[in-house]
Amino acid sequence: MTKVRVNASRSYDVRIAPGILCLIGEYVRRLFPAAQKAAIVTDQTVGALYAQKVSESLAVANLLPICYSMPPGEASKNGAQYLSLLALFAQDHLTRSDVVIALGGGVVGDLAGFAAATYLRGVPVVQIPTSLLAMVDSSVGGKTGVDMPSGKNLVGAFHQPSLVLCDTNTIRSLPEAVFRDGLAEVVKYGMLGRPTLLNRLTVDFSHAELEPIIAECVTMKRDIVQTDEFDTGERMLLNFGHTIAHAIEQLSNYQISHGFAVAVGMAIDTRAAVKQGLCPPECLQVLTRLLKRFALPLETAFDAKSLYDAALADKKRAGDEIAIVVPTALGKCELKQMPVNDLLGWIEMGLNP
Ligand SMILES: NC(=O)c1ccc[n+]([C@@H]2O[C@H](COP(=O)([O-])OP(=O)(O)OC[C@H]3O[C@@H](n4cnc5c(N)ncnc54)[C@H](O)[C@@H]3O)[C@@H](O)[C@H]2O)c1
Ligand SMILES: [Zn+2]
Repeated sequence: MTKVRVNASRSYDVRIAPGILCLIGEYVRRLFPAAQKAAIVTDQTVGALYAQKVSESLAVANLLPICYSMPPGEASKNGAQYLSLLALFAQDHLTRSDVVIALGGGVVGDLAGFAAATYLRGVPVVQIPTSLLAMVDSSVGGKTGVDMPSGKNLVGAFHQPSLVLCDTNTIRSLPEAVFRDGLAEVVKYGMLGRPTLLNRLTVDFSHAELEPIIAECVTMKRDIVQTDEFDTGERMLLNFGHTIAHAIEQLSNYQISHGFAVAVGMAIDTRAAVKQGLCPPECLQVLTRLLKRFALPLETAFDAKSLYDAALADKKRAGDEIAIVVPTALGKCELKQMPVNDLLGWIEMGLNP
């Protein structure tokens, strides 16, 4: 088992190992000796696969498991679902000494985390991420929230989990495309600060090697979160490729998944950076090779002007400037404030190979 300790406004462990799901009861009991109930929030797909195992483990530890299940997918990450979850917590008399357990991908993690952040002004949450994306990214760092009709993640709160359990066996049941979505974020970590990770992905990537890869991503996210928990500086680096990715997701009406959009966003930003002489061509070669290897896209059918207009609605915009994450060396990226007017040219440059 790999353990990564996070010291943010709350300190907690991220534990990564195959089969660790069955130990949830033991860990929760150790952390919360007075807890009586465990509210398992999941989606119907993940719930059907793993909720029973989780419930059994909790029951053995003398916790009463109550399971709340929602339809799978981003459409569930909304205000109505959030309010009905709170209503159910209240109806079941959940108290502040009880604990919420988010069992699922990033959608469940964000929604359950936000409900936990706000119900009774905050109850503890344990994250059990079951998608690769949720393991390497969304379950760690405390960002929680829901989407609004006018945009993704527009409402939320910082609420650090009390524990994150990554059972790498759960990845086996992930649909292939969802797995590759997560790989796009793994490639992002490599580009951001881990040349060793890029090498690992190039040389000996296999499903059997996931534990060290997840651990490396989590460690990197941990380091960033510890220096900038509330996302005012360094944490924005995690948005590499994301300004354009969010534009692509929005323009496709969310038919193009997040990871695929991030892959294209990273390719566009890196091409533009190379053309402007900010980044050595080697970076683009490595990124291209990895994205192709994982069957992730490097191009989009949307034109520069549409992407630009959609990107301007992005929340990383501050007045007349927009923060773009620019690769500057292999395994290194920097934040660059760019006048909003320059963004169109940047996208045009990045669109053309
Ligand atoms: N909070 C953060 O810091 C943060 C960071 C990145 C992304 N996010 C959010 O995460 C969400 C995306 O997360 P996601 O890609 O995990 O999406 P998701 O939660 O919708 O999961 C994708 C699909 O995979 C299924 N699934 C999950 N685990 C499975 C398993 N083990 N076996 C079989 N099926 C499984 C789900 O049912 C769903 O249909 C977005 O809403 C995004 O905004 C949050
Ligand atoms: Zn992302």
